[in-house]
Amino acid sequence: MLRKCNLSKELLIQFYNVIIQSVLVWMSQQTGQEQTGKLGLQIKSLVPACPQFRTYTPPESDSFHRLTMTEYKLEVTTGDKQCAGTWDHIFVTLIGTEGQSERTVLDNFGVDFTTGTTGNYTISTNLSLGKLLLVKVEKDPFLFLPEDEWYFSKVVVTTPEGEAILFPCYRWISRGELVELRGGRALKVFEEDHPMLIDHRKKELILKKSSYQWKMLAEGLPNINHVNNVSELPADIRISQSKTTEGNHAKMMIGIELKIKGLLGSTEQWESIDDMKKIFWWKKTTMSENVAEHWKEDDFYGSQFLNAVNPNVIKRCSELPPNFPVTEEMVKPFLEEGSSLQEELKKGNIFLYDQKKMDGIRPRDYNGEPLHVTAGLCLLYVNPENKLMPIAIQLHQQPSEQNPIFLPSDPETDWLLAKMFIGNADAMDHQVVEHLMKTHFLAEVYAVAALRSFSVIHPIYKLLFPHFRYTLHINTRSRTTLLAPGGVLSNSSLGYDGVRELMRRDLAETTYSSLCLPENITARGLESIPNFYYRDDGLKLWKIINSFVKAVVEYYYPSDSEVRKDTELQEWISEIFTHGFLGNKASGFPASFQTVEEVIKFITMLIFTVTVQHAAVHNGQFDYYSWVPNGSLLLRKPPPTTKGQSSMKTILETLPDLGETVSFASLFWLLSEKYTDTVLIGTYPEERFHEPAPKQMIKEFQAQLSDLSEAISTRNLQLEIPYIYLNPTQIENSITI
Ligand code: FE2
Repeated sequence: MLRKCNLSKELLIQFYNVIIQSVLVWMSQQTGQEQTGKLGLQIKSLVPACPQFRTYTPPESDSFHRLTMTEYKLEVTTGDKQCAGTWDHIFVTLIGTEGQSERTVLDNFGVDFTTGTTGNYTISTNLSLGKLLLVKVEKDPFLFLPEDEWYFSKVVVTTPEGEAILFPCYRWISRGELVELRGGRALKVFEEDHPMLIDHRKKELILKKSSYQWKMLAEGLPNINHVNNVSELPADIRISQSKTTEGNHAKMMIGIELKIKGLLGSTEQWESIDDMKKIFWWKKTTMSENVAEHWKEDDFYGSQFLNAVNPNVIKRCSELPPNFPVTEEMVKPFLEEGSSLQEELKKGNIFLYDQKKMDGIRPRDYNGEPLHVTAGLCLLYVNPENKLMPIAIQLHQQPSEQNPIFLPSDPETDWLLAKMFIGNADAMDHQVVEHLMKTHFLAEVYAVAALRSFSVIHPIYKLLFPHFRYTLHINTRSRTTLLAPGGVLSNSSLGYDGVRELMRRDLAETTYSSLCLPENITARGLESIPNFYYRDDGLKLWKIINSFVKAVVEYYYPSDSEVRKDTELQEWISEIFTHGFLGNKASGFPASFQTVEEVIKFITMLIFTVTVQHAAVHNGQFDYYSWVPNGSLLLRKPPPTTKGQSSMKTILETLPDLGETVSFASLFWLLSEKYTDTVLIGTYPEERFHEPAPKQMIKEFQAQLSDLSEAISTRNLQLEIPYIYLNPTQIENSITI
């Protein structure tokens, strides 16, 4: 066996540690922080390779034996995450069909396993090991140093026969952990032909099912992962240290600014709307300023139902619902001269936003009284200038004298209040349903089911795992912050219980078809509504994702029978049906897969949801909501019941107070932060596929995304308000925030 250290080396290392400790003490004095643990590694990584450290000289004695040895060449890559490197000793054992190598320490001249580097090593065996099955990796302490986790990316093993086999890892490794990597071509469960691997796969899935378990969030809601706190999540699916640090920094800066201004927690009322422009000193975007300038204008209001953050709510209206008795006389002044409502309904120029799912949900109490959430109806009209204009609003489902139909010709503040109540219900629907439940929580369902059902060597796991990056972490955190009692969403008009009730109602109505954009657009009759850039970009992205998924899935599933006999795939979709859609057959979600086509459609929908759809509902939040009157999660006063009674004072009393306003605006600032470790759609920095075919498919996917990005950028140059949210340069590969 290899010799680890000799006495002089130990002494030298001890001397070196004294130097490190001195540097740490000096740094802690400079920064006022304790610099321990992994920070030591950063310093270590900066030290140039030094021959005195961790060198290994092969024994010279057994030259004959060495001549007959068979050599396996290893390229071992340490990740480039913060503090990914390690001082610890790394041992590798190669396991093949004909035997296994000795447990061999990987030790080169100089410092090994520094962040973002690849080291070359050799493992010698007496004979060829046959077909390589597993690479076993172990990490042992280096001297007396404390636990020093290693982010091990991958190892490429070149066999004596000349075959280079990829063994991806991409996870943090601790001391004493059993790490046995699968490598080579992706395999479905029924393709396993070696008893050791069949057994290994079974044990892997047992372990994964204990690491990732389901838990009920509340009756009628999608199930969630079982941990209560992010610290309980396995290290390799947690958010990176760098992202945490950047997020904390942003939070601190926002807190300091608002504290200095005395806005944080203030229960005072705004004296004027314009004062809200002073919430943040610097944080603004062209669009957020545009919103603050134009939020009262009807054409701008209407445009938001197409190209802002909640583009999935309006439907073409060919006949007015009986509970919304808009008359010809009411809306005639807002239609094209000489036209009528009936004519415009026939022509397909009338659209409806019906918020009936809000009806009857009890809002939260505020100062001892329940707040008001309206279940409104908003009629919209595409005018001859191709602008979508609101032309009538009724704030409750049942028409009555106290529930008038508001019109653009009403007193300005009456009409503005009516639009604000529609906007309030829309903002809650957007955050709670369209954003949180239909992207974040459903992504978690797909992820937990995949983590439990698939072996890491399964092709669908390799395809999907990058699309689940950070999602469990961000969702677990949102449940302990945003959604928790006292969190921002619980401070909305709906409150803690109301938010859950809204999710429950919506999930019961959610169909598979509604999550598939082409079907969604057709079902809502929005194929030809002008200036609908969410649709235009979204459909192109759907097509690009679909062609990529089709190529990958058809490569691994040449026939429907392969789909039917893949028990891991079937278990995955069954868990999704049971834990995500609660076994609701009426939803149209599949409970099993019968054909390759069904798999392609479902995975297209999944990738579209966690990339494109999330970007559509997430990316514009600061732009459209940081100006709180444009879509407030909280309105404090009841909606108007008669016309001519309101004033600007009513508007200010209705809007949230200073503290509430800044807590909403701050949330949207935080949610719009850009992080240095962002991974964009179609980018797969972790190499998981060994075989060339899927790698080529990824390249083609990237090329198509790049072409689309150019086309969107060119299109946007012509637009007064560019639609940027679905440019692939703005879409993340997974839900990370
Ligand atoms: Fe999000």
